[in-house]
Amino acid sequence: MNGTTPAAGPGGRRAAGPLPHRWLVTGGSGMLGHDLLALLAARDEVEVVAPRRDELDITDPRAVREQIGAHRPQIVVNCAAWTAVDDAEEHEAEAYAVNGEGPRHLARACAAAGARLLHVSTDYVFSGRRPPSAAGYAEDAGTGPGTAYGRGKLAGERGVLEELPAAGTVVRTAWLYGRHGRSFVRTMAERAASPGEVRIVDDQHGQPTWTKEVAARLVLLAGVPADRARGVFHATAAGHTSWYGLARAVFSLLDADPERVRPTDSAALDRPARRPAWSVLADHRWPHVGGAPMRPWRDVLSDSLAEVLDLASVEHRGSLGADAEGPPRPPGQLPRVVPRG
Ligand SMILES: NC(=O)c1ccc[n+]([C@@H]2O[C@H](COP(=O)([O-])OP(=O)(O)OC[C@H]3O[C@@H](n4cnc5c(N)ncnc54)[C@H](OP(=O)(O)O)[C@@H]3O)[C@@H](O)[C@H]2O)c1
Repeated sequence: MNGTTPAAGPGGRRAAGPLPHRWLVTGGSGMLGHDLLALLAARDEVEVVAPRRDELDITDPRAVREQIGAHRPQIVVNCAAWTAVDDAEEHEAEAYAVNGEGPRHLARACAAAGARLLHVSTDYVFSGRRPPSAAGYAEDAGTGPGTAYGRGKLAGERGVLEELPAAGTVVRTAWLYGRHGRSFVRTMAERAASPGEVRIVDDQHGQPTWTKEVAARLVLLAGVPADRARGVFHATAAGHTSWYGLARAVFSLLDADPERVRPTDSAALDRPARRPAWSVLADHRWPHVGGAPMRPWRDVLSDSLAEVLDLASVEHRGSLGADAEGPPRPPGQLPRVVPRG
């Protein structure tokens, strides 16, 4: 435990400096929090406190102040959130307390304790209307959330950046899947294993992103001096696809017939929260903090699916299917996931 080992960056690059020694992580039982804690557990030089929600409710400013005052972390990572997007429409005040006010409580306590804060946010802070150029939203693009969840998350971002202008970092991500939690990828894997067709929307576009990649970016940022890491970062896989395209990719990787996935549109689904049609984020800041560009979503999906689904192994197969976005990979370069016996 010497606090001097540089943080390993994704893509083999190294972050600029040593990792902070004392960490406090909220939301450690969640999908992203799990992967972050696993990464940190492998680092001898850090000490991590990860209070459960019943030990630290981030909506309680006094509890937040007391825990941060008691543990004196050098860095706090907030992976805690109300993530039930539809429920937030009906329970906006409760969702706002977690997503809008909680991050501000954390930021105030960090400011008082001299700690940095890395806060995780979302593509839902944007309007999600497809721009004419089909470009991704830049870090400084205008926001305009169309859901209660998005409004709360935007307020949370503002709380962090206002309370901690020199030591607050907001990391927006989207379309997460991981080993420890429900996600579209896991649901599609279950559907691939059952007979019949599935109808999946083809008019919402985004970037399927593995939680482990985001966790690695959080660790990378922690190794960068606060003055270079402050502000907003985007951490989503490169490229984009629709939910329909993602479902077909999962079916293909699992050797299920992708033709069983049929396209539909959002109008056919009656959900309380309107989903963004365009959830594509551009990331411009990683090269400035020693990070490689985020990897293409389909490469990461191929590489991660066995681990995410707790399957035995991967083999090589020819094609991810016609929906895979971007230039085709050469035949024989994609792994095939082999279910555990
Ligand atoms: N999932 C996605 O596709 C997605 C997309 C974009 C952005 N994000 C953002 O990424 C972050 C992580 O998401 P995730 O999918 O890992 O979330 P998740 O699996 O739903 O986990 C949420 C975590 O927050 C905790 N939590 C909820 N309310 C809390 C409170 N009042 N005080 C303390 N802890 C509380 C939960 O604890 P319990 O388990 O005890 O309830 C859980 O550990 C969030 O900021 C989310 O907004 C997620």
